[in-house]
Amino acid sequence: MLRDLVYTNRSYRRFYQDHAIDEETLRELVDLARLAASGHNLQPYKYMLSWEPERNALIFPHLTWAAYLKDWPGPPEGERPSAYIVMLGDTEIRKSFTFDQGISAENILLGAREKGLGGCIVAAIRRDELREALRIADPYEILMVLALGKPKEKVVLEVLEPGGDVKYWRDSEGVHHVPKRRLEDIIIG
Ligand SMILES: Cc1cc2nc3c(=O)[nH]c(=O)nc-3n(C[C@H](O)[C@H](O)[C@H](O)COP(=O)(O)O)c2cc1C
Repeated sequence: MLRDLVYTNRSYRRFYQDHAIDEETLRELVDLARLAASGHNLQPYKYMLSWEPERNALIFPHLTWAAYLKDWPGPPEGERPSAYIVMLGDTEIRKSFTFDQGISAENILLGAREKGLGGCIVAAIRRDELREALRIADPYEILMVLALGKPKEKVVLEVLEPGGDVKYWRDSEGVHHVPKRRLEDIIIG
């Protein structure tokens, strides 16, 4: 079960935008983040939820999608995420944020997969603009945005040979291919 979730927990960037995700679903996902391991157990992360088209539209313009797909500016209207979780670091709890943000994010994404949804971690964010659009108060550092929706794209894993190209690509049918290193190439002792 977990293996299936992990294997299918790919970065999805095209969605059925009209598949609504409600507030309760997002709250359940943040509840999984809430229980994640936390350095010094400080739990410095806060979350802003967005599930309504109006707020979603405030977030989307400030995100950068799939840097390796040079000719693709990101999902067009109709294929955009139907919800977002904006992950913030509370600087009144901690001044800088480390690995544990990724653990919380992964819990959310795995929870989304379990619900038949999918998502993408977006860290390439025009942060000043997003802060203004969502009126995010100063003590909160914008860490990442988790874009969520019902995936509309097929993503397949490919073998990445040693020395091979790490860049993902999209084929003529719109299938997204993601190279991953082989197990034997990453266990070194
Ligand atoms: C810390 C982090 C930041 C990322 N930022 C972005 C981003 O800004 N935009 C984007 O489209 N994908 C982003 N991604 C998704 C990666 O491109 C993706 O994880 C990678 O291509 C491997 O694909 P996979 O997630 O399906 O294994 C990010 C992933 C991580 C872990």
